[in-house]
Amino acid sequence: MELSYSGAFISNEDLNHIRPLIKENHYLLDKKTGKGNELLGWMDLPSNYDKNEFERIKTTAYKIQDESEVLIIIGVGGSYLGVRACIEALNHSFYNSLSKEKRRFPEIYFVGNNLSSKYFADLLEYIEDKDISLNVISKSGTTMEPSIAFRVLKNLMEKKYGNREARNRIYITTDREKGALRELIRLEGYESFVVPEDICGRYSVFTAVGLLPMAVSGIDIDEIMKGIYDGMIEYSEEDFDKNICYQYAAIRNILYRKGKDIEILANYEPSLFYLSEWWKQLFGESEGKNGQGIYPASANFTTDLHSFGQLIQDGKRNIFETVIMIESLEKDLELNFDGDDFDGLNYLSGLSLNYINAKAFEGTREAHENGGVPNIVLTLSKLDTFHLGKLMYFFQKACVMSSYIQDINPFDQPAVEKYKNNIYRLLENNKEATSCI
Ligand code: PA5
Repeated sequence: MELSYSGAFISNEDLNHIRPLIKENHYLLDKKTGKGNELLGWMDLPSNYDKNEFERIKTTAYKIQDESEVLIIIGVGGSYLGVRACIEALNHSFYNSLSKEKRRFPEIYFVGNNLSSKYFADLLEYIEDKDISLNVISKSGTTMEPSIAFRVLKNLMEKKYGNREARNRIYITTDREKGALRELIRLEGYESFVVPEDICGRYSVFTAVGLLPMAVSGIDIDEIMKGIYDGMIEYSEEDFDKNICYQYAAIRNILYRKGKDIEILANYEPSLFYLSEWWKQLFGESEGKNGQGIYPASANFTTDLHSFGQLIQDGKRNIFETVIMIESLEKDLELNFDGDDFDGLNYLSGLSLNYINAKAFEGTREAHENGGVPNIVLTLSKLDTFHLGKLMYFFQKACVMSSYIQDINPFDQPAVEKYKNNIYRLLENNKEATSCI
């Protein structure tokens, strides 16, 4: 992967100023002595993971592929977004709609990431006549949305299959020792996988949290591990000039200090939509603390150029963009020649859609930069399992470096308790009110 940016927004002086801070924080990371260091398990996960569990994930994935037409994944936040990002980026754009023969593996649906009864009821209606397996993912085992979804689906599966067969189709990924789900595993004997205690939700995609669903969808999880291993080696380089991960963290902080407090992660590939959703949670929940943090937004180009392209070009000048570009895509289309040239597009005939997309990026980058929106460009040679794994590791490490630059602990999220407590209070009140009737 390559990183590029325009010198018009970042000077050598800016970089020289931030270098010592990067160096200092590199040592905190390397020696694991910085804030929240008890949650740095994801950092050396590529070489230090449970090999037995890894093999069991593969065997379980084959079993699910064999037994089920549909895999339902229950989880929210860090127990959901990374998994979905990988599945959507690496599989066919219409994976679930393909014929069984073409898809080969179970359809995959996500639930327990919202409280919409319409969404849930529609899903239940859709899976009514299908054979299903369930992967419940929750480190704490007590998060409201997945807990509600599991309660409903457990009941449904026990009615449909009987308790014994339901048990055979339910897989749980949770903490090794603690939590309501671990208790239930002890009681019911469900097959289970571990979210290591030194890895928090938004850094957990390369544990069983992400690996089991990925493997069910046919993704080669050995390649994922190779990609993150490569990232671990490359991005642990101390020399700032050789480490693009640290450069990315530094540049976004330089821009932030210059008043650019919104970062848009932009892509030109619809299959990267959920990668951006994962990235937003990673940076938002890690950095957004103590009145600080760059607001993480996303854009899917060229689609969004026709919606808020105007604002990016010409609105308040507090935005910068990080653009993910893919150098070579597996699939391409060539524009045909039309005898009548009814749309006046014959000047494009013979060109590939990827080429036109790349030109759209170049033109947009130039316009946005001329309009005062700095672009950081991350160019991946390919969008495959190896490179996606490496990219996600890159973002995880850059996010921690970036948080450390702002003197923030990236691994806690104390403020999310505020809305949760309000919801619980309102529902508790409601319970009292209902029980009085
Ligand atoms: O990153 C995090 O820690 C959170 O987003 C959690 O992943 C999310 O709240 C879900 O938590 P749990 O896995 O405990 O259900």
